[in-house]
Amino acid sequence: MESTVAETYKDRVTLAITGASGAQYGLRLLECLVAANCQVLVMISRAAQVVIATETDETLPGAAKEQEVWLTARFSAAAGQVRVFGREQWMAPVASGSGAPSKMVVCPCSTSTLSSIANGASNNLIERAADVALKERRQLILVPREAPYSEIHLEHMLKLTRMGTVVIPASPGFYNRPESVEDMIDFVVARILNQLQIEQNLMPRWGEDSLS
Ligand SMILES: Cc1cc2nc3c(=O)[nH]c(=O)nc-3n(C[C@H](O)[C@H](O)[C@H](O)COP(=O)(O)O)c2cc1C
Repeated sequence: MESTVAETYKDRVTLAITGASGAQYGLRLLECLVAANCQVLVMISRAAQVVIATETDETLPGAAKEQEVWLTARFSAAAGQVRVFGREQWMAPVASGSGAPSKMVVCPCSTSTLSSIANGASNNLIERAADVALKERRQLILVPREAPYSEIHLEHMLKLTRMGTVVIPASPGFYNRPESVEDMIDFVVARILNQLQIEQNLMPRWGEDSLS
């Protein structure tokens, strides 16, 4: 008898990567979720594809099915562990409360997508998936990056925070004495994984001396 998704994977997470700077955060988060044996339902906005091409040496294909093959190979995921959905793939599980995972992260989150989520736009699959998370009162984590923030950005973050969304700014700390860009990326990704309650060994929690 074939095993179900729930039996195969420890958890299911929706991950949207949008066009704010910091594509590395989203890609590293995906890598960690795969390593933690989660199934990840991924959406990558068109702007995010431009940012990935600008900020990394990775050449992500344009179409969702090809991205799925590419990301599966890139992160040594099992077949079906990473599923990628396109901008208007309305029949995807994330488009409905009955099919969507209980956890969703938008990382990084552009101010454009932040605005659309705060206003319930649902004009593409990322916005719809976030709207589903909000209406179902499920976990939604946003990782915005902009500098400085306008009053509009802050209002959107406040509105969503009041609805239970967790906003984790892409702003690494320095008290752990990062020695590389990777250390700084892991600082933020560790916080996201902690919020998701997915075990991580990137950073000790405060008050823990080392990872054991
Ligand atoms: C290289 C690059 C860096 C960008 N950095 C940011 C950023 O840090 N924050 C942001 O909100 N938008 C940033 N943008 C602009 C967004 O990509 C743009 O607003 C886009 O419409 C967002 O679309 P999306 O939300 O569908 O991904 C950047 C764009 C590019 C090409």
